[in-house]
Amino acid sequence: MPTKIIAVANQKGGVGKTTTTVNLAAALAEHGHSILLIDLDPQANASSVLVREGGQEGGLYRGLMGEIPMDDLIVTTRLPHLALLAADLELAGAEIDIARLDQHLIQLKIMLEEVKKSGRFSYIFIDSPPSLGILMSNALTAADEVLIPIQCEYYALEGLGKLVGVMDQLRHTGINPTLAMTGLLMTMFDVRTNLSSAVAKDVRSHFQEVVFETVIPRSIRISEAPSFSQTILEYDPKGPGALAYRSLATEFLKRQEQGISFVGAASC
Ligand SMILES: Nc1ncnc2c1ncn2[C@@H]1O[C@H](COP(=O)(O)OP(=O)(O)OP(=O)(O)O)[C@@H](O)[C@H]1O
Ligand SMILES: [Mg+2]
Repeated sequence: MPTKIIAVANQKGGVGKTTTTVNLAAALAEHGHSILLIDLDPQANASSVLVREGGQEGGLYRGLMGEIPMDDLIVTTRLPHLALLAADLELAGAEIDIARLDQHLIQLKIMLEEVKKSGRFSYIFIDSPPSLGILMSNALTAADEVLIPIQCEYYALEGLGKLVGVMDQLRHTGINPTLAMTGLLMTMFDVRTNLSSAVAKDVRSHFQEVVFETVIPRSIRISEAPSFSQTILEYDPKGPGALAYRSLATEFLKRQEQGISFVGAASC
């Protein structure tokens, strides 16, 4: 199967993008799939979980600007089968610098062509920053599919229409004509509150089979793991958070094997 690029995106902040990218990637790597995680967020949170020196200078920014081949920037992590293209602090300035390039919307896609062609990875996951700026647009343009985490909270769907609108636009203008949605993932589900259940029910009735069956529970352990530079699979391997992300990996693989993805399904 050719390498598939999946952007984990939602312009809303703090909905579980990074947590999902890191832990889903780690769970898939556990299955023996060869995974590359690209940390496209200047906050470098995903990088700092996977390598202690995440967020240094001279990495992805120069790759994006075409100064260094992306291939040279990929590092192994302590987790077998999981490689990383780490964020670097200069990425914060990339929005402006990339905007100046002629190819500003497809820069990441172009720079990833060699890596994709090499077939080294089954899946490439891109963790995106919380804004619909140049970096996220580049992630959506380079991606085959988009996985959207939704927090089980008030205003869960706020901004989702805009993201879906941008995806439609990329498809219709021919910039990324085959862009599809892997699915919507409910995160931070709190079993103790009626609100979580109400939001989850609402999202499911609206988006139906687009929503993953797997729901990620709210768990203190999930939020603690990054401060130990660990994935939840390492930090609390038998806890509900690890179980949920493993179950998401299984469900994700099932969708991939059956060729299930969605186009224009989330009209809102
Ligand atoms: N299931 C969960 N249970 C409890 N805390 C969680 C859970 N998922 C994520 N968190 C915590 O919530 C915060 C936001 O999560 P995360 O960083 O994954 O979101 P994000 O969408 O990547 O944020 P940003 O938009 O800033 O990039 C983090 O402190 C994280 O540890
Ligand atoms: Mg993040």
